[in-house]
Amino acid sequence: MTLAELDAQQAQSLGEVAAAADAAALEQVRIRYLGRNGSLPAIIKQMKDVPPADRPEFGKRVQAWRAALEASLADRMAGAGTVKKEEGAFDCTLPGRWFAPGAKHPVSRVIEETAAIFARLGFTVADGPDIENRFNNFTALNTPAHHPSMDASDTFWLTGDLLLRTQTSPVQIRMMTQYTPPVRIITPGRTYRRDTTDATHSANFHQIEGLYVDTKPVSLADLKSTLAYYAKEMMGSKAGVRFRPHFFPFTEPSVEVDFSCHVCGGKGCRVCKMSGWIEIAGAGMVDPRVYGHVNSARGDMAYDPAKVYGYAFGFGVERIAMVKYGIPDIRWLYENDTRFLSQLA
Ligand code: PHE
Repeated sequence: MTLAELDAQQAQSLGEVAAAADAAALEQVRIRYLGRNGSLPAIIKQMKDVPPADRPEFGKRVQAWRAALEASLADRMAGAGTVKKEEGAFDCTLPGRWFAPGAKHPVSRVIEETAAIFARLGFTVADGPDIENRFNNFTALNTPAHHPSMDASDTFWLTGDLLLRTQTSPVQIRMMTQYTPPVRIITPGRTYRRDTTDATHSANFHQIEGLYVDTKPVSLADLKSTLAYYAKEMMGSKAGVRFRPHFFPFTEPSVEVDFSCHVCGGKGCRVCKMSGWIEIAGAGMVDPRVYGHVNSARGDMAYDPAKVYGYAFGFGVERIAMVKYGIPDIRWLYENDTRFLSQLA
């Protein structure tokens, strides 16, 4: 193609734009010249056949043609009312986009609120892995080798000495082997037990562990006042606590902790099964044998049973969420049913 032929084609195309009757005709012109199989791309492909001396000028004119054609098309399209919205143009008549607002899950809420309450008492949040070893989960916690909780029917064993932790208590051991007293931590996290799921049991639930060990006397009364403070902050100013004697291998003495029922104020109702109290936690003074295991893992006497004092406690997070928010079935917390979740916002 010669330069003269090129100019003729350009004039022809601009004439067609000017003559097009409507938007559809303009679109036809656009496709004919600028479309994938249009004249312009075809001409560009044939550039190699243009005499070398003419090539630079030819290239320039093709580009100029394309620009002129695009401009005149846009011009006419605007007049025809089919111009595309300029990029970034905002059409304030469009309906808004709907975003489903998320809400914090009750389990997360309880964990966050608990961490905030204990932070005011000087507790920091510690973390430990879901996959634990026998030493941290059982042995160092003074659990005898024949204890039924170690059975394959109760614990998810992995390979060798590894298991899915059955409680957050192993984080006590991790913290004490890593740090010297005073240690004042809470540790929220997932725990696993081979429980059959029903309205109040799940094989995978959450606990919040607490541990305070110091070189100055720490007593059961300190434990009780700490948990009483927590009960009031979490359940309301009228909430109280009571201790019932119990047994855990790693605390001595051990107690079970009840909160007074926040629904009936202790008079007895459906939530507290008419007792006025709700079982919330296990707790006690750290058993000196636990310090012994910690010292042998550390290789020193940082936790000399004659010189340190400590208490520990452990809550079920789902349990607190259920009594606090009146959730009757633990499974609701895991099923992600939007009818349940949408009530949380
Ligand atoms: N780990 C115990 C349980 O899961 C609870 C507990 C924690 C008891 C700390 C005493 C001290 O039942």
